Amino acid sequence: MDRFVIKGGSALSGEVLIGGAKNASLPILAATVLAEGPSSIGNVPRLQDVGALCRILGQIGVSVSRDSVGRLTCEVIDEDCVTAPYDLVRRMRASICVLGPLLAKRGQARVSLPGGGVIGPRPIDLHLKGLRALGARIRIEHGYVVGEADRLRGARVYLGGPSGPTVLGTATVMMAATLAEGETVIEHAACEPEIENLAGFLAAMGASIEGAGTHRIRIRGVEKLRGARYEVMPDRIEAGTFLMAGAITGGDVFCRGARADRLDAVLDRLADANVNVTEEPGGLRVKSCGRPRRTDLTALPYPGFPTDLQAQMTALLSVAEGTSVLTERVFPDRFIHTAELGRMGARIAREGDSVSIQGVRRLEGAEVMASDLRASAALVIAALAAEGETVIRRIYHLDRGYERFEQKLRSLGADIRRESGRDVALPGLGTHARAA
Ligand code: EPZ
Repeated sequence: MDRFVIKGGSALSGEVLIGGAKNASLPILAATVLAEGPSSIGNVPRLQDVGALCRILGQIGVSVSRDSVGRLTCEVIDEDCVTAPYDLVRRMRASICVLGPLLAKRGQARVSLPGGGVIGPRPIDLHLKGLRALGARIRIEHGYVVGEADRLRGARVYLGGPSGPTVLGTATVMMAATLAEGETVIEHAACEPEIENLAGFLAAMGASIEGAGTHRIRIRGVEKLRGARYEVMPDRIEAGTFLMAGAITGGDVFCRGARADRLDAVLDRLADANVNVTEEPGGLRVKSCGRPRRTDLTALPYPGFPTDLQAQMTALLSVAEGTSVLTERVFPDRFIHTAELGRMGARIAREGDSVSIQGVRRLEGAEVMASDLRASAALVIAALAAEGETVIRRIYHLDRGYERFEQKLRSLGADIRRESGRDVALPGLGTHARAA
């Protein structure tokens, strides 16, 4: 198991190119199941999760190849196999994205139930509710979602859940409705930019969709979809992560490809925290103007502050002047990173779905454990600003969602290296537990 060794204290500076969005790529790749003929998709990041979805597509008869310039070509070559097995699905929750397209295009599907995650319970009841409303017959059998349908029929579907709209649930129903008979209206749909990006791909394949990016999406079903050429949008979560890394180190970083209109809530909170981010041609620049200041925020569905930047913001506010209150409304238990930040000297107290963060002048290097994708990014950000060295174990979590993370940070002046699974001795701490 690889780990990162980071020596904190360097102010990051320079330019970083923001890659394609993981959370747009996954449903877009799943949507190729709907098409006749090849699709050519550009700006798909090289990530573990993308690899996992491509393996599932291969399993269900979609050939996937990447050309010399990195474009992915996806084409359905065999429609017999409709099973996405546990062994592949358990590695990545977003595998559920193939359920809607399989039902809509092939009239049957057998997809392993995705497990829960460390960020909290991850039910799929809204996905199933939406597909049933379109006429699919769905049952859970031996840990699998088993679905059958003659041609799906358009319907009005309300997709609001206990924490608001569901992103992948909206994607599932929107994809399925493209080949349904008649019109579907999704009420309380997710408005995330990744949903808009997916709708753009579906429209490029010949789908009729209105209102993507709003809480009401209208889809008129068509007879068939054909492969299309498309580009995945830049990753707003990766962009936010680098803006916060630049801020916490007192640096000056230009994020090429980052878009302000995709990060409004984030830029608003950063400004309130005395972090100066400006729009420049082709991207966003963060330029430190001194120590961050306390601010309060609530993680909410888009266009609110994204839950996928909550952990990174917690790291930033742990060195801010004053005490901040941060509330998590999308995944109320998504605070596993706070204990590890505590090991680095952060002062964070939890109260239900909120934490209060009493800023300290400086964090200290320590040995910490990554637990999930965004928590790991938060630990890297904290380590970049900490005194001394930090060792972050289990960084395989990061490889799921950040492409060439340490190379990009090193190009900005960070002192970071990846070590493969052997013990690392820290000055004065001696060797730690045997390598996992
Ligand atoms: C997507 O997950 C993202 N994943 C997540 O990013 C992100 O955190 C999340 O949206 C929220 O923005 C991908 O796009 C691959 P949800 P998703 O369904 O769609 C409840 C990352 O770090 N809910 O919008 O699975 C659910 O429990 C990942 O890149 C139901 O109750 O999230 C949660 O509280 C982590 N029933 C809330 O809705 C359902 O059927 C929002 O979840 C579905 C969801």
